[in-house]
Amino acid sequence: MAASGDPGRQWQEEVAAVVVVGSCMTDLVSLTSRLPKTGETIHGHKFFIGFGGKGANQCVQAARLGAKTSMVCKVGKDSFGNDYIENLKQNDISTEFAYQTQDAATGTASIIVNTEVKTLFNPAPAVADLDPRFYTLSDVFCCNETEAEILTGLKVHSLADATRAALLLKGKGCHVVIITLGAEGCVMLSKTEPMPKHIPTEKVKAVDTTGAGDSFVGALAFYLAYYPNLPLEEMLKRSNSIAAVSVQSAGTQSSYPYKKDLPLDLF
Ligand SMILES: Nc1ncnc2c1ncn2[C@@H]1O[C@H](COP(=O)(O)OP(=O)(O)OP(=O)(O)O)[C@@H](O)[C@H]1O
Ligand SMILES: *[C@@H]1O[C@H](CO)[C@@H](O)[C@H](O)[C@H]1NC(C)=O
Repeated sequence: MAASGDPGRQWQEEVAAVVVVGSCMTDLVSLTSRLPKTGETIHGHKFFIGFGGKGANQCVQAARLGAKTSMVCKVGKDSFGNDYIENLKQNDISTEFAYQTQDAATGTASIIVNTEVKTLFNPAPAVADLDPRFYTLSDVFCCNETEAEILTGLKVHSLADATRAALLLKGKGCHVVIITLGAEGCVMLSKTEPMPKHIPTEKVKAVDTTGAGDSFVGALAFYLAYYPNLPLEEMLKRSNSIAAVSVQSAGTQSSYPYKKDLPLDLF
C-alpha cells in the first residue's frame, strides 16, 4: 500500500489504467450436433452459462494481463446481473461504476454451437509416415495418385491401382477417400458407397494441368461448405468440371474460373 502522507502515490495505485465502457452479457450456450430448423426442437448434449459481452471480455483480458481496470456498465437487478458483478470482482476489475437497474433485464445471448464442422484433408506433399490420426480424424481424405502411392506403398498408375489404394486408405480409418486421377477424373469411396466408384470427367483439351489438384480440392471445399446436402458423387462431378476448366488455360490461379463464368447448373 502507499505510504501515508503520500497522496499522489495512493492516487496512482488506485486509478484504473484501462477503463472499458461496454456491454456485459450472459451467454447461454447449447452444444448441438446441428442447428434446429425453424420451429424444430432438437436434443443438445451440453449446456453452460458463460460471461460474455464485448466490453467485459476486453476488460477481463486486460485485467488478467495485470492491468488495473474498471468496467463502466449497467446490468439488471436480477440473478444474471448479480452474478456478473461478482464475476467482475473475481477478475479484479473495479465495479465502482458497474450499476444495476430494476428497469431492465441483464442482457443475454443464446448461442448454439454446432459440431458439424467438416474437415477436408489433402496430404500434400505426402510423407510415408503420416501421423495415423490424420486418417481417422478427417471427414474427407483427398489425394492424388503420387500421394496415394507414397501413403500406401502401392504403385498407383491406373484406375484399378487407385481402387486398391483407396481400399487400403479406408483400412487406415478414412471415412471418405477420394483419389484424383488427372484426365480420368477421380475415384471415391465412403461409408454409404463402400466399394470404390469411378467418377469420370469430361474430355477436354488440356493446355496446362498445373494446379488442377488444388482447383479440385478448393471446389470440393466449396461444395462441402455451401451445399452440404448434395450427394458426394455430385460434389465430385462438379469439382471435376471446375478443375477441367482450370486445365484449359495456362497458369495456376490465373486459370481458376469465377462463378460468373461457369454454367449455372454447377450451383
Ligand atoms: N487433362 C485433364 N482433363 C480434365 N480434367 C482434368 C485433367 N487433368 C486434371 N483434371 C481434373 O483435375 C483433377 C485433379 O487432377 P490431378 O489428379 O492431376 O491432380 P494433381 O496431380 O494434384 O494436379 P497438380 O499437381 O497438377 O495440381 C482431376 O480429378 C480432374 O477433375
Ligand atoms: C500430386 O501432388 C504432388 C504434390 O503433393 C505433386 O508433386 C505431384 O506431381 C502430383 N501428382 C500428379 C500425378 O500430378
